[in-house]
Amino acid sequence: MLIDVLTIFPKMFEPVLKESILKRAQNKGLIKIRLHDLRNYSQDKHKKVDDASYGAGGMVFTPQPLFSAVESILGYTVYPREKKDPNKRIVMFSPQGKRLTQPLARKYLKYERLILIAPRYEGIDDRVRKHLVEDEVSIGDYVLSGGELPAMVFIDSITRLIPGVVSSPASIEKESFENGRLDYPHYTRPQDFRGLKVPSILVSGDHKKIETWRDEKSLEITKRKRPDLLK
Ligand code: ADE
Repeated sequence: MLIDVLTIFPKMFEPVLKESILKRAQNKGLIKIRLHDLRNYSQDKHKKVDDASYGAGGMVFTPQPLFSAVESILGYTVYPREKKDPNKRIVMFSPQGKRLTQPLARKYLKYERLILIAPRYEGIDDRVRKHLVEDEVSIGDYVLSGGELPAMVFIDSITRLIPGVVSSPASIEKESFENGRLDYPHYTRPQDFRGLKVPSILVSGDHKKIETWRDEKSLEITKRKRPDLLK
């Protein structure tokens, strides 16, 4: 999968992409992430990418740098002559978007290319939303200072689902939200920590019983913490 990110703060992404699973996925060639500074696509002599909102209000991203950046990355005009490419998706982050969930993250696995737009300021010129962006995604009902953190969250949630990225696919299947449930409790050594014991079933060696215990705990935790998931 090739992911192109359009941002005015590419440096925000660098440390996140250089660690752990995201780093490994890139090193293994399972994913390629390119950061593009939106200012480099501005035709303004001061490389401006924003302007005052018509009818008063704050600053918003102007359409030109975003359209130019996407078209330069794709190598064809998106508007008014859009080439249909079912293998790519142009995604923008905003609190108005569709809520990111595990099933939504999984849906993006089918694309070969993603172009991610991380807006700043008060938002973007609505012509971008209507004629350039294909999907608008929100990471939750709260307002962040920009789309950079949501873009990183989105990249992480998808990358770890790509086959070969996480070493054990079984560990993904059992994670929270896959199969609509929260994860069961985990324990490790020591068996006795300051008198706090690991549940005896987990050290019994009886795999069938362990499986049943985990299943019951997962259901119990989901009922208690997130009953909405079971509906
Ligand atoms: N931009 C600002 N807040 C956001 C949110 N909650 N989700 C996605 N993009 C955002």
